[in-house]
Amino acid sequence: MAGRLVLRLRRSLVAPVPEPDWPRGIRPVAFVPELHAQNVHGLLRRAYTQGGGYVEPFAIWSPSLRDDSEYDPALVFLATDERDEIVGVAQCWTSAFVKDLAVAPAWRRKGLGAALLHEAFRVLRERGASSITLKVEADNPSGALRLYRSLGFEEVESYRLG
Ligand SMILES: CC(C)(COP(=O)(O)OP(=O)(O)OC[C@H]1O[C@@H](n2cnc3c(N)ncnc32)[C@H](O)[C@@H]1OP(=O)(O)O)[C@@H](O)C(=O)NCCC(=O)NCCS
Repeated sequence: MAGRLVLRLRRSLVAPVPEPDWPRGIRPVAFVPELHAQNVHGLLRRAYTQGGGYVEPFAIWSPSLRDDSEYDPALVFLATDERDEIVGVAQCWTSAFVKDLAVAPAWRRKGLGAALLHEAFRVLRERGASSITLKVEADNPSGALRLYRSLGFEEVESYRLG
């Protein structure tokens, strides 16, 4: 049987990018690994239970994030709710690649995923990136591909896994 179809998408950052429009009750916060890593990992684990991505157990995920040559804590974009729970994350590498994007189920379809990406666009553009890329499974069950297309991402490559 053919494996999953994966698309590599790219969006230009050359022109000015939209300001993030945070849903009411949501606050962007700076990532502090000692404070947030465990909860970020929990959010990713829960977000990918229906598919769309995979995250290693914390004991593997945490050091492989920290020790990656493209890791920068300033490129881990977080959003918290009124109870200061982490409900959204976009983790980017310094190569302007979105490694993970996840929003807690209760906060989906309110614009939080788009706001996190717009924040990432702004910061990466300020650092001089001319585009941002990511990979997505074509049949992502939460509709991530549609969101990416609506934010201006275009397909640059596709391949099958496995
Ligand atoms: C993919 C994911 C991050 C999107 O997060 P999100 O916060 O729901 O994203 P947004 O709310 O910005 O956009 C989702 C949709 O809601 C719509 N929307 C935004 N605000 C809305 C509102 N106030 N009312 C109704 N719909 C709204 C958007 O237009 C978008 O519509 P579309 O599906 O037609 O494009 C989230 O579904 C998720 O965590 N999925 C599991 C993990 C995953 O697969 N991540 C991607 C890996 S590549």
